Amino acid sequence: MYRSCFTFPRCRLFSRIFTQNANHPNTCPPRVLAQFPKGVCHLMSPSMMQDLRASDRLVFTLDPSAPRSLGPFFSPSRSRFRRPPQRAIIPLFPRRKRSNYHPREIHRVQSASPQSLIQQLHWRYAVKRFDPAKKIPADTWAALEKALVLTPSSFGLQPWRFVVVVDQATREKLVPLSWKQTQPADCSHFVVFAARDRMTEDDIDRLISRTAEVRGVGVETLAGYRKMMIGTLVTPAAGFDVKHWAALQAYIALGNFMTAAAMIGVDTCPMEGIEPAKYDELLGLPNEGYSTIVACAAGYRAADDKYATLPKVRFRDEEVIRRV
Ligand SMILES: Cc1cc2nc3c(=O)[nH]c(=O)nc-3n(C[C@H](O)[C@H](O)[C@H](O)COP(=O)(O)O)c2cc1C
Repeated sequence: MYRSCFTFPRCRLFSRIFTQNANHPNTCPPRVLAQFPKGVCHLMSPSMMQDLRASDRLVFTLDPSAPRSLGPFFSPSRSRFRRPPQRAIIPLFPRRKRSNYHPREIHRVQSASPQSLIQQLHWRYAVKRFDPAKKIPADTWAALEKALVLTPSSFGLQPWRFVVVVDQATREKLVPLSWKQTQPADCSHFVVFAARDRMTEDDIDRLISRTAEVRGVGVETLAGYRKMMIGTLVTPAAGFDVKHWAALQAYIALGNFMTAAAMIGVDTCPMEGIEPAKYDELLGLPNEGYSTIVACAAGYRAADDKYATLPKVRFRDEEVIRRV
């Protein structure tokens, strides 16, 4: 039994919280903590959030010894709960919009301090020599894959594939295709960022149906959005290079990945020094309609990588930041 202390506007109680979810049946990962002033669960483990759907419910089971005055807590649905409930099932993504009841609130987590952000960005550098003996732990890697998936993209279209090359034999083959750089073979995980060659109506509809599924809305409500995306990317204006647009999105994922890795103490090396066409061939990407754009090695720096101690070379702030 998992117990945690929740603070409410007018009462304090112990409670148990778990989700009813196909992927997490009645489970409660120990990291789950919640505060729900005004009936909102503010904090939840990201690993649970990843599989949640519009139909999921949070189930709050109250400890019998809890104070019975819960009016403020259940205020959004007070009329349904005239008497304090012992168990309340609350829709995670209610169709009716409530200003204080948004899934993004659920994600509110402790943010890094400005100092720790700068410290980690100084700590990171483009690693030339990885320690081949050090592998990224599975839970750390899972978080980094999630950072890739959570990368924002234009229209939200996610025109990419992230090919995670873990097979050592394949990684060895990538070395001669990478200007003989050894990072692909020595790192722990090697990611190839591939982008869509062209956008089709099927690509657009894939996003439309996923949006409808995740947000619990009908596809017909997204007709205008669909039309705009088709006009921009499936039948683009003359001069608009869709492949280039998709490649730019892949670079956003690269930046997001490197920063995420630095924040959790994982080293990386972004790599453009590769032969994309040969990567495509080795990884079978053309069959899927994707092309290699850039790659990134991830792992842990070797103790003797001399680049680790070189001072960072950046232009002065005032040369690159213009305030108007
Ligand atoms: C898109 C991109 C491609 C890069 N390609 C390579 C590469 O192929 N090999 C390499 O050793 N470093 C590569 N780098 C690393 C840069 O040289 C390095 O980021 C830059 O000099 C700044 O140094 P720092 O990352 O250590 O702060 C690349 C960096 C970026 C952003």
